[in-house]
This record gives sequence, C-alpha cells and structure tokens, in this order.
Amino acid sequence: MDIDLYIKEKKALVDAFLERYFSHTVVPETLHKSITYSLSAGGKRIRPVLCLAAYEACGRDPVEAVPYATAFELIHTYSLIHDDLPAMDDDDLRRGKPTNHKVFGEGMAILAGDALLTEAFYLLSNMNSLAIDREGAVPESAILKMIHELAGGAGMLGMVGGQAQDLLSENEEPDAETLFFIHKCKTAALITSSVKAGGILACCSEEKLGSLERYGENTGFAFQVVDDILDVEGETEVLGKTAGSDEKKKKMTYPKLYGIDESRRRARELVDMAIEALTSFDEKADPLRKIAQRLLERRS
Ligand code: IPE
Ligand code: IPE
Ligand code: MG
Ligand code: MG
Ligand code: MG
Repeated sequence: MDIDLYIKEKKALVDAFLERYFSHTVVPETLHKSITYSLSAGGKRIRPVLCLAAYEACGRDPVEAVPYATAFELIHTYSLIHDDLPAMDDDDLRRGKPTNHKVFGEGMAILAGDALLTEAFYLLSNMNSLAIDREGAVPESAILKMIHELAGGAGMLGMVGGQAQDLLSENEEPDAETLFFIHKCKTAALITSSVKAGGILACCSEEKLGSLERYGENTGFAFQVVDDILDVEGETEVLGKTAGSDEKKKKMTYPKLYGIDESRRRARELVDMAIEALTSFDEKADPLRKIAQRLLERRS
C-alpha cells in the first residue's frame, strides 16, 4: 500500500465535503470569506485522515465517516487561526499564505475561529445532514459519545488547556513536566480524540478503543515533537509557516530542553510505541501504522 496515495485519497474526501458544506455564502460575506480562506489554504488534514483510518481499522468503510472526521478539521483550523493572533504566537504566515488576521483583521479572525469551533458541533448534532452521507451507518449513541470525545480533546482539559500553558511558559526555563503537559494537551489531545472517534463511530470494543487511545497519544505527541524540530530545522517556504517562530517567542519546546538529536530519538521512540499499541489489529490498521511512520519523516 502506498501511504502517500492513501492520505491523498482520504484528504480529497475531506476537502470535497468541506467544499460542499461551505458552498453557500452566509451573511456577512466577510465572515464567510475569512472562514473559507483558512479552510481552503491547504493543510494536511491529518486529524480527519487519522479518524477515517481508525474507522477503517475497525473494519468499516471510511466514506461513511467523512462528515464526523471533518469536524476535527474545523476545530483544528480554528485553533490555528487563534494560535497565530498577535496575542498568541503573533505569526504572519500559515499554510503558505498570510495569516487570517493579516488579511481580515484581528476581530474577524477571532470570529472566524469562533464560528469554526461552533460549526463543528452544529454539524455533528445535525442528524439530517449526516444521514445524507452516512446512510444510517452510525447509531446516534455513538455520535453522542464521539461528540463528547471531540469536546474533551478540544477544550480546557485538552487543546485549550495546553495552549494556555504554552502561553504561560513563554520565557520560562524549560522543565520536563511542564513541557510534557503542554505537548500532551495542546496537540496530542485532539489527535488522540480524532483516532478514538474513528473507533467510537465504528462501535469497536473497549479493548480496541484503549489501543487506539495509546496509538493516538503517542502519534500525537510525536507530531508536536516533530513540529518543534521543524521550527528549528525547516524552511519557511516548505513549512508554509515562518521557521524560527518558537525561538522568537521564547517557547518551551523539545529541542530547547533536549536538543535536536535527542528530540528526534524520542519522536522515533513514540512512533514505535504507537505502532506497538496496534498489535491486536489486523492488516486493516496498516494505514494507521504507516501514517505514524510517515509523520515522523514529514518536512511540513
Ligand atoms: C500545526 O498542525 C499545529 C500543530 C498542532 C503542530 P498541522 O501541522 O497539522 O497543520 P496543517 O493543518 O497541516 O496546516
Ligand atoms: C500549536 O502549536 C498547537 C495548536 C493547538 C494550534 P504551535 O504554535 O507550535 O503550532 P504552529 O507551529 O504555529 O503550527
Ligand atoms: Mg502556539
Ligand atoms: Mg504557533
Ligand atoms: Mg510549532
């Protein structure tokens, strides 16, 4: 199996759903433009792809889960718009384009983020729109459980909590415990929820869900360690965001505490643990295994 092709195909499903979902202009048009600007700027769509791959690992057809998986991209894109704001990381470039607030102003960028966050829940609680795509494949009890999972990963115990600690730790001497908390919450939490959501929607066993959780935690953590490394070693043109942003903002990062080589070693170790967590799954989990490996080698 060609994992790059697999990711490309699943990403295309998500992109097509997003295109359709946001095809109707809302009033005011500027808000709609601000939302679709960030959504269509690119992005790897790795969270929805992981959700679809987890659903497939549980023996189901990923096409059924596309609307649910896409909800993770709405939340993620909101988190990026807010992360780039002057009051947070103060970045000018995202997904190869000027950041949302640079184009639409801070107020509109905040509101586009608010709208994307809320829209995720509007989409997930709209059984009519979901039924069109899922052909009744997912029971409502599973959808409710999945919404709970997504909200947990995104909120104060997850991404938002991690972002808060990330801000509080600027200019602080790095320490292992705080750094672990930041990465676990700001990035691994939503990625873990994306993976678990696939299992929940497929109504997998508690044992399988536990395995998906361990896979997600380790993959998600490795993802942020690699993001930190790329901020030091990557090129702005390839990254689509300004390299060296962490150093400029005196962020608490993996390379800062452990150095590049040790950070790379730890990322590899985390990916090994992620793959190890899937031993009870058959070959249908190969996309999950290969995605974890692929994320380690990524350049953007
Ligand atoms: C960037 O996420 C923010 C982190 C949590 C590291 P991605 O690297 O997934 O960004 P896009 O969606 O591809 O732009
Ligand atoms: C952000 O981490 C994680 C989010 C929840 C958005 P970073 O601040 O390192 O992400 P980038 O490097 O700006 O994409
Ligand atoms: Mg940040
Ligand atoms: Mg940032
Ligand atoms: Mg970063």
